[in-house]
Amino acid sequence: MTTGASSAGADAGTSAGLSNLLHEERRFPPSPEFAARAVAGPDLYERAAADRLGFWEEQARALRWERPWERVLDWQPPFAQWFVGGQLNVAVNCVDRHVEAGLGDRVAVHWEGEPGDTRTITYAQLKDDVCRATNALLELGVRKGDRVAIYLPMVPEAIVTMLACARLGAPHSVVFGGFSAEALRSRIDDAQAKLVVTSDGGYRRGKASALKPAVDEAVAQTPSVEHVLVVRRTGGEVAWTEGRDVWWDDVVPRQSAEHAAEAHDSEHPLYILYTSGTTGKPKGILHTSGGYLTQCAYTHRNVFDLQPETDVYWCTADIGWVTGHSYIVYGPLANGATQVVYEGTPDTPHKGRWWEIVQKYGVTILYTAPTAIRTCMKWGDDVPAQFDLSSLRVLGSVGEPINPEAWVWYRRTIGGDRTPVVDTWWQTETGAIMISPLPGVTATKPGSAQVALPGVVADVVDDTGASVPDGGGGYLVLREPWPSMLRTIWGDDQRYVDTYWSRFEAMYFAGDGAKKDEDGDLWLLGRVDDVMNVSGHRISTTEVESALVSHPKVAEAAVVGATDPTTGQGIVAFVILRGAAAEAAAEDAEAGEAVVQELRRHVAKEIGPIAKPRQVMVVAELPKTRSGKIMRRLLRDVAENRSLGDVTTLADPTVMNLIGQGLGSGS
Ligand code: WTA
Repeated sequence: MTTGASSAGADAGTSAGLSNLLHEERRFPPSPEFAARAVAGPDLYERAAADRLGFWEEQARALRWERPWERVLDWQPPFAQWFVGGQLNVAVNCVDRHVEAGLGDRVAVHWEGEPGDTRTITYAQLKDDVCRATNALLELGVRKGDRVAIYLPMVPEAIVTMLACARLGAPHSVVFGGFSAEALRSRIDDAQAKLVVTSDGGYRRGKASALKPAVDEAVAQTPSVEHVLVVRRTGGEVAWTEGRDVWWDDVVPRQSAEHAAEAHDSEHPLYILYTSGTTGKPKGILHTSGGYLTQCAYTHRNVFDLQPETDVYWCTADIGWVTGHSYIVYGPLANGATQVVYEGTPDTPHKGRWWEIVQKYGVTILYTAPTAIRTCMKWGDDVPAQFDLSSLRVLGSVGEPINPEAWVWYRRTIGGDRTPVVDTWWQTETGAIMISPLPGVTATKPGSAQVALPGVVADVVDDTGASVPDGGGGYLVLREPWPSMLRTIWGDDQRYVDTYWSRFEAMYFAGDGAKKDEDGDLWLLGRVDDVMNVSGHRISTTEVESALVSHPKVAEAAVVGATDPTTGQGIVAFVILRGAAAEAAAEDAEAGEAVVQELRRHVAKEIGPIAKPRQVMVVAELPKTRSGKIMRRLLRDVAENRSLGDVTTLADPTVMNLIGQGLGSGS
């Protein structure tokens, strides 16, 4: 890691206005009415500072434990165990407990399908559904400790399956439905999953899109899989493997709605979720039970000011990402919240679909990503203006740095200038929100995630690991273990140690650049490693490069994330073609364009459409240092149309001229 703090800023999706950012003067203090009835008070910070572990114990007591813990924390750096000796069942905490408390008739999920079909699921119904699914998993041979892969669209069965796995103690591995067969195969294989739960397909952009073919392709090469359980969603034709494939409708509904749940150890694995790292191989982030659920519930309650009796909460994330895990499934359900779950895209059948949903269900808390906010800004204020958004009272943002303009637009246009906006920083690895304002407490600043939550200890350090003073910039670190932290990388403890705990002594290295302003508030500046953030999705440059060089026409490839006004970053690939393909492309612009499109499709097929490069540039050379390392910084300059930075460390400074000549061939 040689990237300095200053170039961390240049790497950030929102770098353009960085110096402006830190001069952002607008402040939005909470209204006295909001503060008076807010869940969180300033005392939280004081209590956590006085006794951090005691504070986390207090949060854990909000859950139902079948056996109390003996020790809050066992910290053998960098391996942590929380609430050691305690036992609980995560699904019971998310469902049964609320039914037993007399809340069975409360709506857990208002589900809205993209074509407009709906389902309303109360906590009592959810409990029955989860028990039936649990019994079905047992019938299919799944036992405590077995891994279950979930490759589903945003249908209620996704939530039900996750909870059934949690109930049994069979860790789930949810794979985003937009990932390719190959991405699914490698994830199933790494986790050695025994069962895959999928569907015939789902609805995206007004069309049924199939999912099962990708599963068939993947499972053909994964001997660990014994059964594929298939939810019927679109009614489309599916290929069928007798003995292996089973319809959900054939096995789940006929099961008993009773299942006596076993209590699992606090540290029992709850799930694996794969995320891109700086190498081509995704990391299986492992989360466990007691600490994870504690922090999900605590943050969901305090950061969103959840009033479970009256709020209607909506998180627009997909269940395939960590945001869907922590803030659609585990946090909201542990808190007995009522939420909206929407299957489809924001502009189907029209660009006001989201706002129509807010109006229809009276959504009070909305949690979404900056890319979506910027897209809505582009579509124009008159779209949300057609709907009644007055129910909204808290707005959240996650996944990428939010530029002050988008932040202010969100508050004004969506929040009617009354709602607090909480910019929440966290990662798949952290499991739950770590840095965020608290509504009703914090005077918010557009563009800044501001302060570590009570119980969390964050800092910004320089290259040597020394804390920077207010006004300084460097790397974001976490100084103390936290309950929902990843426990390891599945099957690779060494990679866990190397990736997160080796850059700085005794600190967790997040991979993000950050600044402290004069008030000590934190501004997140984006990744400092080779991970891109495209529309809030993490994609590694190496992964895209591997996909490109797996194409027979490609000799070499380098990929960078270039600033994009809507998606934060866009993927720009530089490729050197092999002999005949190179000659054809050089001679004929049409042939060049055809190969560019072919490569874009190839990446989408290898990884998934989210990884499709925005641009592919065919070049004759790549800029390398004398030790052969590709200088991405220079490629980023090219991709962002900047004048070139320092080229003196290049092995051959003239290659940049060659690259400049190749710039005609874009997408
Ligand atoms: C980025 C998503 C700035 C960051 C929950 C982090 C953010 C990565 C923010 C994790 C934010 C997330 N401001 N950047 N509020 N939230 N990020 O694992 O670079 O998909 O390291 O988790 O997203 O992405 P992941």
